[in-house]
Formats: sequence, C-alpha cells, structure tokens
Amino acid sequence: MSLPPGFLDELRNRVPISRVIGRKVVWDLRKSNQARGDWWAPCPFHQEKSASFHCDDQKGFYYCFGCQAKGDALTFLRNADGLEFMEAVKVLAAEAGMAMPEPDPRARERSDRRSQLFEVTEAACRWFRLQLQTGAASEARDYLQRRGLDEETERQFDIGYAPDSRHALGMALREKGFDESQIIEAGLVAKPEGGGQVYDRFRGRIIFPIRDGQGRCIGFGGRAMDPNARAKYLNSPETPLFDKGRNLYNLASARSAVSKGQPLIVAEGYMDVIALARAGFAGAVAPLGTAITESQLQLMWRISPEPIIALDGDAAGQRAAQRLIDLALPMTGARQALRFVILPAGKDPDDLIKSSGAGAMRALLDGAKPLVDLLWARETEGQVFDSPERKAALDRRLQDAISKIPDELTRQHYSEEIRSKRRELFGNNWQRRGFDGKGRPGSRKAQRGNVVRLPAGVTRLDGPNAGPSLLEGASLLLCALRPDLVARVETRLERLVPQDPDRAALLHDLLTGGQSPAGARALETLRADAHLGLTPAVIREQDQENAAAILVNLLDRLEAERAAGTELARAETEIQGEVDEGLTWRMQQIARARHQAERPEMEDSGDMNEDRDALSAQLQAWLSKEIWRKPPRR
Ligand code: UTP
Ligand code: MN
Repeated sequence: MSLPPGFLDELRNRVPISRVIGRKVVWDLRKSNQARGDWWAPCPFHQEKSASFHCDDQKGFYYCFGCQAKGDALTFLRNADGLEFMEAVKVLAAEAGMAMPEPDPRARERSDRRSQLFEVTEAACRWFRLQLQTGAASEARDYLQRRGLDEETERQFDIGYAPDSRHALGMALREKGFDESQIIEAGLVAKPEGGGQVYDRFRGRIIFPIRDGQGRCIGFGGRAMDPNARAKYLNSPETPLFDKGRNLYNLASARSAVSKGQPLIVAEGYMDVIALARAGFAGAVAPLGTAITESQLQLMWRISPEPIIALDGDAAGQRAAQRLIDLALPMTGARQALRFVILPAGKDPDDLIKSSGAGAMRALLDGAKPLVDLLWARETEGQVFDSPERKAALDRRLQDAISKIPDELTRQHYSEEIRSKRRELFGNNWQRRGFDGKGRPGSRKAQRGNVVRLPAGVTRLDGPNAGPSLLEGASLLLCALRPDLVARVETRLERLVPQDPDRAALLHDLLTGGQSPAGARALETLRADAHLGLTPAVIREQDQENAAAILVNLLDRLEAERAAGTELARAETEIQGEVDEGLTWRMQQIARARHQAERPEMEDSGDMNEDRDALSAQLQAWLSKEIWRKPPRR
C-alpha cells in the first residue's frame, strides 16, 4: 500500500516518541527532563543497568550511547516489537487517531486473495495435525518418538502428518469449501504435467508448518520417514504466500525469545531448530531449504545485532558458511554482525544436543567466533606463506574482502584485526613501526620538513577510511580536549558545518565557550568512540605546537576530502552535459590522490611503506597544487 505524501511526518509529529517507547522501558526520571521531552532509560536493546538510552521528543528520535541503536518511533516499533513497516504504521496511526488511507482496489483484491490462501494453509495445517492422531499415523508417531520429540513439542511446533495418499488432503480441503485453484495456488496439491487429476504434494511425510513473522502459516516442510525416499525433505513450492528467501523457520517465536534475552541462533534444518528449542535455546531459526539469502540476513538483524550461525559440521555446512562470509561482508557493520559456531565434524545441532547435551551446545555458543575470524581462517588455513608472492596474494585477497564492507568504522576495525592476526602469523618482523600503538611523537622521524607525523593513535585516521565524518569528529574531539588550540583555528572551525546536530552544538560551544547538553552529548559520543583512536595519544601531547600541527593537519585533510567530494559531484554533472577537456584530467588526479591515500591502510605488507610522512608529503603537495581546480587552458 502506498501512503500519501506527508502522512508519515504527520504521524511522527502527532505521537511523542517517548509515549511509544515508554511502554517498553522504565525511564530514569532523575536523569530525564520531562518538561523538555528529554528522556533517559536503560536500553531495551541491550543488557545494562545504567541509563544510556536517550529519546528526544522534539526530534522524535532515540539513540543508545551503549549499543548505538537508533531511529524514530516507527523504527522502534519494528525493532522492539518486531513489526513489519506497515504494521508499525498502523499501530502508530491508531495511537495518533489518524485513519489509515484506503488501499486501492487492486491492492485490496490482492490482499483478499492472500487472506483466502492463508485460510487454505491454516485448514491444511489443522488437517495434518489431526492426521497425526489417527491409527494410520502410528509409524509417524514412532518416528517422532525415536527422534526424541514429545507431545508438548509437537504441539508447540504444530507438527503434523501427511498420510501416504494421493488425494486425501485435496479432498478434505474441497469438502471444506475451498476451490481447487486456491488449493493449487497454496502449493498443497499439484497438477500432473500431462493433465489429469490433481494430487497431494505431501505424502507419507512428517509435516512442519512454516509460519511468517506474524505467525501465519505460509507453507510446509515435509520429512520423509522412508530412508529411501527420493527427497529427505520436501518443501512447499513458491506461492504468493511462501517466499523461501524472505522467511525463516520459527521466526515469530525466536523473535520473542530474543527479545527476552536469548541469542538468535541460525541452524540449517527444522529438526535443529526444534532440538535447540527443546534444549532451552528458544531463539533458533532456519532457512527454508535454500542457502541463506540477503533478505534473510536483514530479517535476522532486525531481531538481533549478532545472530550466531550454527551450520552443520559437514562439508556442505562448511561450504554454506564460506558463502555466507561473502554474502554478509557487503552488509556487515555495527549492529549487523555475525558470529559462527563450528560444530563437530559431521554433526548438526540436533545430533550434538542428542549426543552431548545442552551444555555442549551452550559451550559452543559461548565460544562463537566473529566473522572476521572465519574470513581469516578461510584465507589462511592449511596454507604456507613462505614467499613474498604468497604473502602478497594473501594480502590482496584479504584486502578485496575487507573492501566490500560498506561501513567505514567497521572496515577499519577489520583492517586492524587482520593486521594483528597477520603479525601473529608472520612474526614480529612484519610489525610496522608506528602501528604498534606505541607511537612516539617526539621520535627522530616525527617531523620532516613541514609535514606532521601523526601520533600512533591518530594514524588510523589515515587511509581510505579517513572520511569527512571521522576527520570532523577527530577535529572536534581534539579541540574539546585542548581548548587552548581553538583560537588558532577559529576561522577554519567556523567553516565546518557538522550534519549531526549534536556535533553542531559542540562546535558552537567550542567557538563561544558555552556548554550545551547537546554539545556534551556529542563529546561523550566522540570520547566513547574507540575508533577515533585519538584521545590517549593527543592528550599525552604536551607540546602545544605539535598538538596544533596535528589539528591543522586534520582540518587540512577534512577540507581536502570535502573539496574532492564536491569536485567529483560537479564532474558528474558535467559529464551529463558537455565534456570539457580539463575534466578527465581532474578526475584522474582525484582518483590518484584517493588511491594514494588508500594505500597505507592495507598496503603495510612489509615495511616498504616508506612511512606516513612520505604519504602526507605527497598529499600535501597535491593539496598545495590545488588539484581540484581546473588547469589553465593552453
Ligand atoms: P539436513 O539434511 O541437514 O536436515 O537438511 P536435518 O535437520 O539434519 O534433517 P534430519 O535431522 O535428518 O531430519 C537441512 C535442511 O535442508 C532442507 C530442509 O529444510 C532441512 O531442514 N532440505 C534437506 C531439503 O529441503 N531437502 C532435502 O532433501 C534435504
Ligand atoms: Mn539432523
């Protein structure tokens, strides 16, 4: 359904966000300022005792200083209550006393058709369930018992049985008044290719109903009891309700378990999910007979910032994990991480729990490894790096993988992590001076000409990830920590226009000597931001000249980045029109400068890196030549 323009804004304005959030948290009334709509509470998205979750009625936004969860009232409803976007809109509209816009007739027809299909699947689900109680199902009941399921679990997962008959289900559903076309569309019966009578798709199988996030039955998985059956598992085909790549088995129950503190565990099969739930791990889901997809990852991340992937310990499971690394890297970031559990060879969670108990599973989960470890293992395990070429090839592969991570800070941390793993692997001779966290600002190489050598903590700002936001943050932080420097760069600071309102407030405070709550908040965030890697090194910087030089260098780079960004944008628009002769040249220069700036971050393979000084010098040279300006026409 499409919403009229302005509907969402109106909605957000009408309901104070604190009212929506207030149902899930207990406000810290001493820290909050109710009159100003400024609220604090322990965060509902992560475990904590202190109140680092902030919500601002004026802005209609929340932000957690602990886990970085953030968003507006709709985001909150989606993340805290697990609602779909439209459901969140409906909840908020009811709250605001606003009528939902009427769906257009075609959309209404589609949704009517869908609700009819849901009736078919629910009826089938009840029928399968009944069949499990019949005399014909004794073999099925024995099977389930052998696999350790009790009636309670069967009820919980609505497990049923499809008798070994070609027409029983189709007939039962038609008797209930459903059209054949609906039963076909719901994927329950199939038409033979050569024509003729339709037949039941699931025959002689244990039935696992598959439900969507709202608990509605969208399809079925059927397990053969006959070990010689052609397919061990048979799933519903894709239907208007059943999109295998966009749903997860047990999603709704897992989500509610996760909101109560359980980890989100992703197993391979239905039986694993059930075994996990029985063993006390209620936050378990599984894909639906296909490899995990992008949208399934998104689905998981809306429930938990760090799902634990527990794929089978066989070759197929491990291959699936490897593929998942490549799928996840371009999406990973803060609150979108993955951990992996490696199961013992040939075992899945169901086998492990059966053979070694819930404790063994718990131990594995506690030791779950982050994605970066799997990436490292994949690229290094079983290999020998005894030549520069092999080492270079490894660097290249890792570099390629890391470059796929969109989030700047996450990418930096991957680089650091990988660098430290490599140091371990290759020994100390690979350790680069200045990267060991023990930077010596006063050392012999600290200054060369006019070029500032940054202290170790700041070096991380170099390279591809020194985006404007980080540079800006570093500059502000440095100014806040060393107010004595502000006067020297006042005019340059005035030219900064932070996008983030808190940072803007901090900047204002710095320039006016004021102290606003928003400014204090920005400072708190910056201080807490380990990625800036600035604080210790710079605070230690006793020498004002040196500290000032660092600040100037940060501002230089910030301005250069901004200039390059503007120029690229302008160049793009120029391409639309007439291509001028200076354009290609300038684009090349920008590309080169960028490329050059990116080298030190990953290219510290070996210490051929002639040091950051050289790089800074080069950048400095380019900047002084003002490469972003058009060369004079000859
Ligand atoms: P597994 O064969 O690993 O499942 O397939 P499992 O849970 O260990 O099965 P049990 O323990 O022998 O009963 C994992 C998942 O892959 C899909 C199903 O979704 C299954 O749950 N699958 C497997 C199929 O779709 N078809 C198959 O033939 C096999
Ligand atoms: Mn199994």
